[in-house]
This record gives sequence, C-alpha cells and structure tokens, in this order.
Amino acid sequence: MVSQALKEKLGLRHLIGNSSVFLQEVKKIPLVAGFDASVLICGETGTGKELCARAIHYLSPRSDKPFVPVNCGAIPVELVENELFGHERGAYTGAHTAQPGLLKQSEGGTIFLDEIDWLPHLAQVKLLRFLQEKEYRPLGSTAVCTADVRIIAASNSDFNVSVATGKLRADLFYRLNVVRLNLPSLRERSEDIPLLAAYFLQKYAREFKRSSVEVPLDVMQALTLYQWPGNVRELEHVIKRAVILRESGPLSIADLELPVDNTPSAVQSFREAKAAVLRQFERTYIQALLLAHRGNITSAARAARKNRRAFWELIRKHAIDAHSFRSAI
Ligand SMILES: Nc1ncnc2c1ncn2[C@@H]1O[C@H](COP(=O)(O)OP(=O)(O)O)[C@@H](O)[C@H]1O
Ligand SMILES: [Mg+2]
Repeated sequence: MVSQALKEKLGLRHLIGNSSVFLQEVKKIPLVAGFDASVLICGETGTGKELCARAIHYLSPRSDKPFVPVNCGAIPVELVENELFGHERGAYTGAHTAQPGLLKQSEGGTIFLDEIDWLPHLAQVKLLRFLQEKEYRPLGSTAVCTADVRIIAASNSDFNVSVATGKLRADLFYRLNVVRLNLPSLRERSEDIPLLAAYFLQKYAREFKRSSVEVPLDVMQALTLYQWPGNVRELEHVIKRAVILRESGPLSIADLELPVDNTPSAVQSFREAKAAVLRQFERTYIQALLLAHRGNITSAARAARKNRRAFWELIRKHAIDAHSFRSAI
C-alpha cells in the first residue's frame, strides 16, 4: 500500500487518492521512473494521465532535463511531422530557416505524446523508427539526427480498439507498450472524491485568499454521487468555481452548479440498490466526518454519537485511511 506519507517521500504528494484501484497504478510510478522504458498511459480525459507522466519524469534520472507535453490530436495533420521532427532550411516554401522539432527540444528528457492514436500513419512510422534506432530525419533533410528522449504516450480511448481499427499501428503499439498504467475513472474510485474535494478546496481557498470552506454532508454526498464524465479535471473546476463565486458560510449544493445528472443507475434489485446506497452513505459520512475532524477518530466518533470502537470498525470496513485526512488539510 502506498500511504499518503509514503507518497510524500516518493514525490507523489500531488497525486491525491487512496482507493486501491488508483494506488495499484500509482505505485508503479516510482518503479518505472527508474528504468528508461517507454510507458503507455490509458484513461479517460481528466483522470491524471499528464500528471502521472510528469511524476514519472520528475522521479527519473532525466528530471533536470525538459518534460515536453504534446497533444497529438490538437496538431493539424499536415503539420505533425514538422512539429515533432523539425525541418531543414528550404524543406518547403516558406521554410527560410532550419527549425528543430519537439523531439530535439526534449533532448535528454521526456516527451509526453497525448492522444497518440491521433498521429497520422506516416508520423507513426517515423516515431517507431525513432524508438528502435533513436534516429529520425527532419523534413527535407538528407542527414539523420539522433536524440536521447524517453517517450511516454497516452490515449483516452481503448488501445485495443485503436489497434483493431487500424488507427494505431500495431508495431508502434507493441513497441510503446512496455509498461502500462491504466488510470481509473473518478466513478470507479468515488471513495476518493472527499479527499480530492478537500484538496482542491484548500488549494483554491489559499490561491484566492478565501477563508477555509466547510463542506456539509449533503454537499459531500452530491459530489460523491455525481458521475463526473470529466473526471478529476471536472471536479477541480467545480470546486474552483464554487470557491470563487460563493458568498459566505458553508458550501451549498447550489454553489456546485452541477449539471443535472442523467445517469439512470443500472437496473438492480431493490435489495442490491439499497445496499449500494447504504454503503455509499456510510463511506461518505465517515469521510466527511474525518475531514471535519482532521483525521481525529475519537472526536469524529463523538460527533457521530458512536462509540470509538464501532466507528473504528466502520473505518476498517471501508478501508479508509484516517491518517490521510490529517495530511490532506
Ligand atoms: N490524482 C490527482 N490528484 C490531484 N490532482 C489531479 C489528480 N488527477 C488529476 N488531477 C488534476 O486534474 C487535472 C487534469 O489532469 P490531467 O493529468 O491533465 O488529466 P488527463 O491528462 O488524463 O486529461 C489537472 O489539473 C490535474 O492536476
Ligand atoms: Mg491531458
């Protein structure tokens, strides 16, 4: 288990979350950082792919060299090769001077290729060659260049589908897929929502010089039950907006301005549905209390009017790390 304290030590303190699905992936980061293999990161938008790529870079021996993030899906197709590999003087009309590409700018460091499956095929071939030989040819150049760059690639679609549909070349995929991080969506780790909410509340209260914000239980529950299609990024924006626009007093559900949630929960038996809501309620309730009491179990139990032992059992049942609420705020 990677506890918050260990995460601090590993330089991962900005990666908030204690759920096992999240930690299972995060604990790979210090391991992969140490050896120079390519990494593939898969996860929906806003799940922290770039944040993890940065963590890998800054924990690696390349940390004092550049980290260069590139969104492959955002570069017009006809410019991609030019951007990545650069060009020679006179490579095309208007190319008055030679220009190094992003690979060259990443020399010694790490290039983060987000939405890798949007790279046009020719660029994919060039990239594969670079991965194999560490060599590439700028546009219009007869000479080959070399660069010492680690590649971390990411996508928010399923790599298997991208390969099966021919969008991502299989040979490039296999070459990149040395180590794989699969980041869970926020829905799959909803138990981390209170911790993330507290982290962003504190971050933005400090940044905008607002007094600290209290989060009542109903607000925490609304946050936990919402489906977060935009994942952590969306949660961060919701909290940021609430901190800026809130008048005074505790946070209210209205302050969140959550879009009306249209997720019909999958049809379950009454019993299952009730058990799921109960489980969710227990977890959110305990987390909200621990947050309010800064991880102090005795005073949280007292506020819940439960004896300490019974409260502790609940914490154990939900595998909540009471300690992390001390360091979160
Ligand atoms: N586990 C996390 N802890 C703290 N902040 C996070 C976490 N995951 C994502 N974020 C924040 O959410 C936003 C989106 O993260 P990002 O890494 O850009 O996601 P992606 O690349 O998957 O779209 C960033 O502001 C990032 O700092
Ligand atoms: Mg991103």
